[in-house]
Amino acid sequence: MSEKKRILSGNRPTGRIHWGNYFGALQNWVKLQDEYECYYFIADWHALTTGYEDSQDIFPSVKEIMKDWLAVGLNPKKSTIFLQSWVPEHAELHLLLSMITPLGWLERVPSFKDMQQQLNDRDLNMYGFLGYPLLQTADIVIYNAHFVPVGEDQVSHLEFSREVVRRFHHIMKKQVFVEPKPLLTSSPRVPGMDGRKMSKSFDNAIYISDEDDVVRKKMMQTITDPARKRKDDPGNPEICNIFAYHKLYTDEGTIEDIDSKCRNAGIGCVDCKKICIENALKFWKPIKEEREKWDDEEDKLLEILRDGSKRARETARETMERVRKAVHLNYK
Ligand code: TRP
Repeated sequence: MSEKKRILSGNRPTGRIHWGNYFGALQNWVKLQDEYECYYFIADWHALTTGYEDSQDIFPSVKEIMKDWLAVGLNPKKSTIFLQSWVPEHAELHLLLSMITPLGWLERVPSFKDMQQQLNDRDLNMYGFLGYPLLQTADIVIYNAHFVPVGEDQVSHLEFSREVVRRFHHIMKKQVFVEPKPLLTSSPRVPGMDGRKMSKSFDNAIYISDEDDVVRKKMMQTITDPARKRKDDPGNPEICNIFAYHKLYTDEGTIEDIDSKCRNAGIGCVDCKKICIENALKFWKPIKEEREKWDDEEDKLLEILRDGSKRARETARETMERVRKAVHLNYK
């Protein structure tokens, strides 16, 4: 038995990974691999909850995400990397948990109404969408994960998971699961090109796999301090999106220099962007090279995922034995 605490986290396969995903979560996941027993998975069933009409896009996204993950350093030798639908026990646990989960709890999860409003181009008045946090609960507790590295916005999901676990234990009069806790880590703010949070759905994202020329173009389009119309207007780096990018890619000395020059109108936005672009491209170069190697190796990519799913499944099966026993469904 490993002494390490267990961590679980996942991504929905709704597209490639962008800078916001990387600095907001993935970079941290890579580090956690040395300290924890990590399970990282691709939540393809969760992608269906909002993308049920575009299900043909899911599998291509799974492959793209695998490339992104491996390129940034998620390591199948250290972590269990798997695909949700290849561990069907998640669905069985979701079903069993659904029997004891009050509807009101699901309706009260803030992201339910938020997302419905945000994605108002599709009908999300669906059973599967309402159950999103419950399926997520099953994902976590089936591995007895102690911690889930999440952003602030997911804390309410986790609180929901903890309540479901407590209720299950209470009703079945048996302790089966670990109550998962959020693992909050500070991460830098990564605005999109337009200053809103970087997100695929806002169409303001820069992706790990974007070609260098695409990155250049996107960074040239990125909004700086809007009050700075001309080069000799003084600027405010604190509200400049390029300055936020400098903080990701540029060394401290240069950042200080840019900060004061921006405030004194000693450097123009175009020159400032050029420095930032070069630093960003330098940062991503080895990662992109690593990623490209996988383009010709999709079979191997899937093998890694199958292998991880097999291992994940062993753990999931053990948990389900105990769950079935707790609900008295272990007859043979
Ligand atoms: N909700 C996560 C996302 O939007 C995906 C996810 C599904 C997840 N199940 C999870 C994350 C369990 C952490 C733990 O990307």
